[in-house]
Amino acid sequence: MDSAPVPNPIQTVAVLGAGTMGRGIAQSAAMAGLSVRLFDVSAEALREGHASALAGIARFEAKGRLTPEAAENARERLGAVRDLAAALSGADLAIEAVPESLALKSDLYSRVEPLLKPGALLASNTSSLPIGRLAASLTHPDRFVGLHFFNPVPLMKLLEIVVGPATTEDAVSSCRALAVRLGKEAIVVKDSPGFATSRLGVALGLEAMRMLEEGVASAADIDRAMELGYGHPMGPLKLTDLVGLDVRLAIATALAEELGPRFAPPALLKSKVSRGELGKKTGRGFYAWGPGGASEPDGAAGPGGSPSGAGGST
Ligand SMILES: NC(=O)c1ccc[n+]([C@@H]2O[C@H](COP(=O)([O-])OP(=O)(O)OC[C@H]3O[C@@H](n4cnc5c(N)ncnc54)[C@H](O)[C@@H]3O)[C@@H](O)[C@H]2O)c1
Repeated sequence: MDSAPVPNPIQTVAVLGAGTMGRGIAQSAAMAGLSVRLFDVSAEALREGHASALAGIARFEAKGRLTPEAAENARERLGAVRDLAAALSGADLAIEAVPESLALKSDLYSRVEPLLKPGALLASNTSSLPIGRLAASLTHPDRFVGLHFFNPVPLMKLLEIVVGPATTEDAVSSCRALAVRLGKEAIVVKDSPGFATSRLGVALGLEAMRMLEEGVASAADIDRAMELGYGHPMGPLKLTDLVGLDVRLAIATALAEELGPRFAPPALLKSKVSRGELGKKTGRGFYAWGPGGASEPDGAAGPGGSPSGAGGST
């Protein structure tokens, strides 16, 4: 057991997993002036994730949100490495963003923890897995914390800091300071199923799917109900398409185990996932996605709904 102090401010970050979230976290951290090492088990995912983060920096530069000099510095700070030890060497913080599986994440931690420098923090971007359970086999659960970012990370303001049963105040303070550095607003949430965001967001998404199954309205109209009636920037079904139906299914399944059948995934969600309709990333979910964005959904059309009928809706 080492008793080195928790790094604050955090200067160097390893991002483990270069998928949807990892690449966005890496981009945001590099643009905020941190040194970043992006790692993935898949060479292809690492290459794509790195390229996508660099392209994201270029978009910020093109829009005038980063000076050319700041963009160049961010690009230089953003490294992609295929070796886990090289990714973690000297890192103040490792942020894990691998798929939502307790076994997969725990296995990775058992290899990560011995490679971390004394005092370094380990964080998970999990949407739903209990921080206490993820920390169960760690030597240093006191330095483990949930850092829940939102998609797309460079644009979304919120950072949900999830405090595990053993997480120290120092670790939380360091993460709060990191949020400020990243230009995010932090909320601090007790370790509880789905935290604040996923619990509420998934509840709304699942109910919208049940309404679609029952033919209450079309997907587009259900979304419009929340967008125009409640001021949500995006309806729950379109949001599910962006998050990924597979990701939402995994979260709902985990929440149902913890919180009961009100989070049981609807048949419509399960069938779409089994058909590979995972949302925007596969071109089809509750909407059909093309170069022009989302078009009328193929789900069960309710009153006033899409004329394309109920094909594929159950
Ligand atoms: N997608 C979202 O909108 C969203 C939002 C918030 C949180 N999350 C959470 O973030 C995490 C990642 O989700 P995602 O959508 O980015 O997933 P993703 O499938 O897009 O990416 C995961 C990446 O992890 C890599 N990977 C798998 N095993 C690995 C290992 N052992 N070591 C290193 N890399 C490994 C994969 O090759 C893949 O590139 C999940 O816990 C998810 O619940 C997702």
